[in-house]
Amino acid sequence: MAGDGKRVVRDIMSRPVVTATVDETVAAAADRMREQSVGSVVVVDGPRPVGILTERDLVRLASAGADPTSRVADWMTADPDHVAPDAEVSAAFASLAEHGYRHIPVVDDGQLVGIVSMRDLMRIAQIQPAESLAHEVPRGLEGVVVAETEIGDVRGLEGFYHYRQYNAVELAETRSLEDVWYLLFQGELPTRSQHDAFVDEVRPLRVIPDAVRSALPEIARVAGDAAPLDLLRTTVSLLGASLGFRPSLDLDHDELRAEALQVCAVVPTLLCALHRLQHGEEPVDPDPDLAYAANYLYMMLGERPTAEHARAVEQYLISTIDHGFNASTFTARVITSTGADLAAAVVGGIGALSGPLHGGAPSRALQMLDEIGTIDNADPWIRAAVERGDRLMGFGHRVYKVDDPRSVMLRSVAERLGGPKLEFAEQVEQQAVEILAELKPGRKLYTNVEFYAGIVMDRCGVPREMFTPTFASSRVIGWSAHILEQAADNRLIRPSAHYAGPPPPQPVPPAE
Ligand SMILES: CC(C)(COP(=O)(O)OP(=O)(O)OC[C@H]1O[C@@H](n2cnc3c(N)ncnc32)[C@H](O)[C@@H]1OP(=O)(O)O)[C@@H](O)C(=O)NCCC(=O)NCCS
Repeated sequence: MAGDGKRVVRDIMSRPVVTATVDETVAAAADRMREQSVGSVVVVDGPRPVGILTERDLVRLASAGADPTSRVADWMTADPDHVAPDAEVSAAFASLAEHGYRHIPVVDDGQLVGIVSMRDLMRIAQIQPAESLAHEVPRGLEGVVVAETEIGDVRGLEGFYHYRQYNAVELAETRSLEDVWYLLFQGELPTRSQHDAFVDEVRPLRVIPDAVRSALPEIARVAGDAAPLDLLRTTVSLLGASLGFRPSLDLDHDELRAEALQVCAVVPTLLCALHRLQHGEEPVDPDPDLAYAANYLYMMLGERPTAEHARAVEQYLISTIDHGFNASTFTARVITSTGADLAAAVVGGIGALSGPLHGGAPSRALQMLDEIGTIDNADPWIRAAVERGDRLMGFGHRVYKVDDPRSVMLRSVAERLGGPKLEFAEQVEQQAVEILAELKPGRKLYTNVEFYAGIVMDRCGVPREMFTPTFASSRVIGWSAHILEQAADNRLIRPSAHYAGPPPPQPVPPAE
């Protein structure tokens, strides 16, 4: 405590400090961080601090797909800012806030004596987290880790994503949708008998409950030619209400899982029924003999699809079930964190997915191909669009800075299916990637999942307005797995914002 009663860093710093050396592997340092439950290690040369390695560096390393046996020296921040033990807490805080660090080594006479964290400082100095932290949060929360999950992840620089411990593309190439659904819900791939039991459990749930079914013609009539996803939002809400879904906070895992299964199973039926009603056609009941994807196409188109088309759509569906902490998944988890019911979380997910920057692009990608029209027109069309500042639909990704593995897989599915649009799409892809590299150097823009998704679905007879709904019908499985995970270990997600308006408090002017 300083003479004037103000607290100094020595009073609040943590000791002993968890340390590492420059020549250690990052994996060894990360193990120590985990064992000691700390967010950083100070890298020392004898008693002298020479760097700091934080959880953020580990995330950077993982997302770069780098080798965890790389040296600490290659990933640490060298010569980190430090404070003296006698510095006042407020001065140490100013230093932290200025540089955006979360941990600061405490150094006395060149020797490491402790460490202080932003959290320690805030607790003592009672400084508002919003003001202190806001500036260090990147726009769009890019790269910010907001939760722990065992469901899957995306490694952007490596062009790799996984469900649980399995490569998602490999799952899409070798497994059925029901197997992958089971994997996401149960945490392991099913045995043959588990698969069969799961199918027996799920298939009856495809049937739309009577109360909702009877309301569909009216919903379709009132909505006119609104997007099918907007109608789905309404019907999932109605489904939850009519089945008496209760707040997730009041349910145990089995009860919430039962609701999740029901919603995932019936969403494709709802979408197809709404689509058909919007086109003046009678809904087609699910066929209990058909697997998920074949049944989906059957309910949409009214006839049994070829095995080739069913498999192509199934591969697309598997590849889009989950994808890290994307906007709709995050939305579903935020809503679940309030304890709201599962339908509310799914409706929120649908809303987030409907935006063109997230799930609303595949029909726009095909639209772009239509507008380009001929390969001779591709170069001038693409150039003009990018120079105008337009986004090329089906290109770019927040996380992938290499080829999107889903796009690579779907391109091969599209090649298997063939068709008149394929060659043109491949030529446009090549030109667009080249032009983007020239006009947007360093941004690393390649095709994303949406580009070939449109080509594949079009070839299988899925109408354009059903592209994004088809994405929703698989993603609802991913949302549900996340909802179950969030509910199992819940804490309200409630971040803060940096207030940037006119300084308060201003006198309130009298009403005119
Ligand atoms: C997916 C997407 C929203 C990711 O956005 P993001 O991570 O926020 O990327 P940014 O908006 O920061 O873009 C970075 C730069 O690349 C450019 N860029 C990104 N995607 C682009 C695209 N599809 N076409 C042209 N330029 C693009 C941006 O204009 C920006 O350039 P600038 O630095 O000159 O301003 C974005 O790439 C996009 O809008 N793509 C088109 C829509 C689409 O395909 N959506 C489906 C996603 S699966």
